[in-house]
Amino acid sequence: MEPRKPSESFVVMTELVLPNDTNVFGNLMGGRLMYWMDIAAALAAGKHCNAPVVTASVDNISFEAPIKLGNVVNIQAKVTRAFSTSMEVHLSVYGEDLTHQYKYKSNEAYYTFVALDPNRKPRPVPPLVPETDTEKLLFEGALRRRQLRLILGGKMKPNDATELKALFQP
Ligand SMILES: CC(C)(COP(=O)(O)OP(=O)(O)OC[C@H]1O[C@@H](n2cnc3c(N)ncnc32)[C@H](O)[C@@H]1OP(=O)(O)O)[C@@H](O)C(=O)NCCC(=O)NCCS
Repeated sequence: MEPRKPSESFVVMTELVLPNDTNVFGNLMGGRLMYWMDIAAALAAGKHCNAPVVTASVDNISFEAPIKLGNVVNIQAKVTRAFSTSMEVHLSVYGEDLTHQYKYKSNEAYYTFVALDPNRKPRPVPPLVPETDTEKLLFEGALRRRQLRLILGGKMKPNDATELKALFQP
């Protein structure tokens, strides 16, 4: 399969926070944001592999700043690394107050998607070749993040996580 660039999977999704999206404090609900992030990430993964994808896992999400009613939500998603049948997608989320022309970071996250064939079995995805320094850093870290999420998901033995263990061993 032809290698792909991270930029070829880049997706920007824009939403407006309406009353039905908010909690009792008038801020965007975390669950609604994660739903939008899931869609943006699935679009990025789908652009990379040109196949149907499913969410395999979502890493820790910390909500750094609430996004207020009436503000705009900007979600940026890009594939950071492709493995055999899975892809890691990095997301950055920003809130934007159009009236006061103020943009703020809300949170970041990594989602993992798996491409499926017509029989709904995992199918191979094209390799990803990072270009920029940031993309190279994300690519390199993806292997360790993958090992950590597979351990947490009960799919890998900690002893097999060579690159992750190396971080803690001099
Ligand atoms: C994700 C899913 C396709 C994996 O299928 P599986 O039969 O376990 O397949 P495998 O064990 O061969 O794993 C396939 C790939 O998924 C990855 N994977 C499996 N579990 C994972 C997890 N918890 N986190 C990250 N990646 C995971 C594997 O690492 C592997 O990637 P690789 O081929 O790039 O190495 C399957 O568990 C599934 O369909 N889950 C439900 C998905 C879904 O419905 N999502 C919507 C939200 S509920």
